[in-house]
Amino acid sequence: MKFFIDTADLDEIREAMSWGVLSGVTTNPSLYARTGGKLADFEAHMAEICRVCEGLPVSAESQAKTTEGMVEDARRLAALAPNVVVKLPICEESLPATHQLASEGIRVNMTLVFSAPQALLAARAGARYVSPFVGRFDDIGDDGLAQLETVVRAVKNYSYGYWDGEGGPEIITASVRTPNHVTQAALMGADIATVPFAALRKCVRHPLTAEGRAKFDADWEKVSAGA
Ligand code: E4P
Repeated sequence: MKFFIDTADLDEIREAMSWGVLSGVTTNPSLYARTGGKLADFEAHMAEICRVCEGLPVSAESQAKTTEGMVEDARRLAALAPNVVVKLPICEESLPATHQLASEGIRVNMTLVFSAPQALLAARAGARYVSPFVGRFDDIGDDGLAQLETVVRAVKNYSYGYWDGEGGPEIITASVRTPNHVTQAALMGADIATVPFAALRKCVRHPLTAEGRAKFDADWEKVSAGA
């Protein structure tokens, strides 16, 4: 499974990039708002993320409400850098937009996916990535991982004729909160997990790793003292 980072924060992106584990970045309007960025700077910010992550897919979300607006936004965003992926929420307006954009070779990440039918429609319309959300189900007392499993199984049952050469459509496990979300997504065969920086750090760390390192350090000090 590939790791994307789910953030618009350039410092977090740079640090995660330095680990050598990232295969892409996803952003959304809330994540951009969290950086304190202004509307006028949005495209420059996305272009900078694309520069930092050259060659890796970077999802930039359109806030257009009509099919025409989404297509227009997508063409403008895609012109920022070759690695831009346009994020659109699943809805009646975004399906025809996705279909049109796929025919132009513009990659769409269909977001806010909460059911297998939504995911199947996104894939059928030509989305390059489909993003089922996990954590937001958990937030409302539902079982996000069980929901994810139905999406993965349903989508992987078929091929869709777009993006075959690139192995798409790929499923991005989104709204990830915990290392267990990552574990279970990988076991289900989800292609990607997009993980916020804090959760990514939790994936690196483990209490037994910390305990093991402390023990090795203590023993090594004894060795060094006896040298
Ligand atoms: C997906 O690409 C979204 O940006 C993201 O995973 C949303 O997650 P949240 O539920 O933590 O806001």
